[in-house]
Amino acid sequence: MAKSKFSCQSCGHQSVQWLGKCPSCAEWNTFVEELEESSVANKGERSSSLIQKISQNKSRTKQNLGNTKPKALNKIESTETIKLSTKIQELDRVLGGGLVDGSFSLIGGEPGIGKSTLLLQTLGILSEKKKVLYVSGEESVEQIKYRADRLKVRSENLFVVSETEWEKIILMVEELDPDVLAIDSIQTAFTNEITSAPGSVSQVREVGARLMHLAKKTGIAVFLIGHVTKEGTIAGPRVLEHMVDTVLYFESVGGHSFRLLRAIKNRFGSTNEIGVFEMASTGLVEVKNPSELFLQERPNGSPGSVVVSSVEGNRPLLVELQALVSKSSLGNPRRTVLGIDSNRASLLIAVLEKKIGLQLYDKDVYINVVGGLELKEPSADLGIIAAIISSFRNTPLDAKAVFFGEVGLTGEVRSVSKIEERLKESQSLGFKRAYLPKRNLKKTKEFNMEIVAIDSLQDLIDKI
Ligand SMILES: Nc1ncnc2c1ncn2[C@@H]1O[C@H](COP(=O)(O)OP(=O)(O)O)[C@@H](O)[C@H]1O
Ligand SMILES: [Mg+2]
Repeated sequence: MAKSKFSCQSCGHQSVQWLGKCPSCAEWNTFVEELEESSVANKGERSSSLIQKISQNKSRTKQNLGNTKPKALNKIESTETIKLSTKIQELDRVLGGGLVDGSFSLIGGEPGIGKSTLLLQTLGILSEKKKVLYVSGEESVEQIKYRADRLKVRSENLFVVSETEWEKIILMVEELDPDVLAIDSIQTAFTNEITSAPGSVSQVREVGARLMHLAKKTGIAVFLIGHVTKEGTIAGPRVLEHMVDTVLYFESVGGHSFRLLRAIKNRFGSTNEIGVFEMASTGLVEVKNPSELFLQERPNGSPGSVVVSSVEGNRPLLVELQALVSKSSLGNPRRTVLGIDSNRASLLIAVLEKKIGLQLYDKDVYINVVGGLELKEPSADLGIIAAIISSFRNTPLDAKAVFFGEVGLTGEVRSVSKIEERLKESQSLGFKRAYLPKRNLKKTKEFNMEIVAIDSLQDLIDKI
């Protein structure tokens, strides 16, 4: 007999009755009735025993089988950290070096952004060395073939099937014995042991848990695609994020054909890394020098425009940042910022007013990071201040200069990390001058750029 329960489609919270507001995540109108079989005692048992069987078939994971017993840390072989390069540098970077056996990765993004394209390209490359199974619930095998031809993916070791039912998928895995499994997408996959619709929280959680079990028990690397809702979260599976090792998020930047891949969670590497791609007719092409991309439409000689250097993960990026200061007709002038933290912007504006006496209380201040990037590092502070001053004075800054440095509440300019990397990137893009913290001066010798050392905001005002 089926009994019904209600699940929050945002966070997975369950209740026996319908609720307007979720007590767990405070979202409104997210409860949906889901039917559940009452005889769930042996739920997933068949799937578990199949997974056990697959794992026994896999000779390379045999040594892991008796793993349920505690083991001394130094007796555990560190084989599982070997990373297999996807040969797509931008993806390797985000994955923290490459693909790990038995890893479980979730790739999220809006419909049409290019998740299936990226996945198929990656699987094509991985299949040169590994046996790969691509299960699509969204496209027929003919459609996948058509796409593969366009992307020039052809391989004897890449197997594709159009299937959505978990019970059938796991049988195929057992038969084919792949090293890599990709499921496109979690919203279409379902297990017939639960009656609720594919894409509901119960299904997402159940299929996700089984995939995790499969990855960890057998060493198969699993990729899972998840669509995101219009609010920008991966639909339903907030529950999934705890299970997977890596959450990659695919988004477009500034509405162009450029795509940004970022790691939101990564058990095997840094989460600050970003990968940049361009969507072309032959598929996603890596953008090797994203700084050029973010600077290409920069206006020359405009007040309020500045180039800052931000380090995302290990990679320095040069980005244009713009400020606009205009007279306000409001009692409470506007502070609108995009791409940086608004509290940080308010703080810098306050420092400017207090320390320099810049009259901003009757001005609207707008700040925007060009290209839709989010800058998280405080090293953009000096650039933000320079842009505000430039717009305030209506005089452009040196177009061939970059700025970086953190600004403190007393108006002091504090040192930042990775100076050499930032300067190297600036120099290679033709910048001639760098405004940077005085304390960072000693690491700047080998560069063929004019270095302007700044120790306070007053110092900056005098030198720009
Ligand atoms: N023949 C084509 N030539 C160029 N680009 C294409 C072609 N077909 C599809 N695309 C691009 O691929 C995108 C679809 O990517 P896809 O990987 O299916 O996205 P997702 O899996 O995230 O929904 C489309 O938005 C389109 O821009
Ligand atoms: Mg797709």
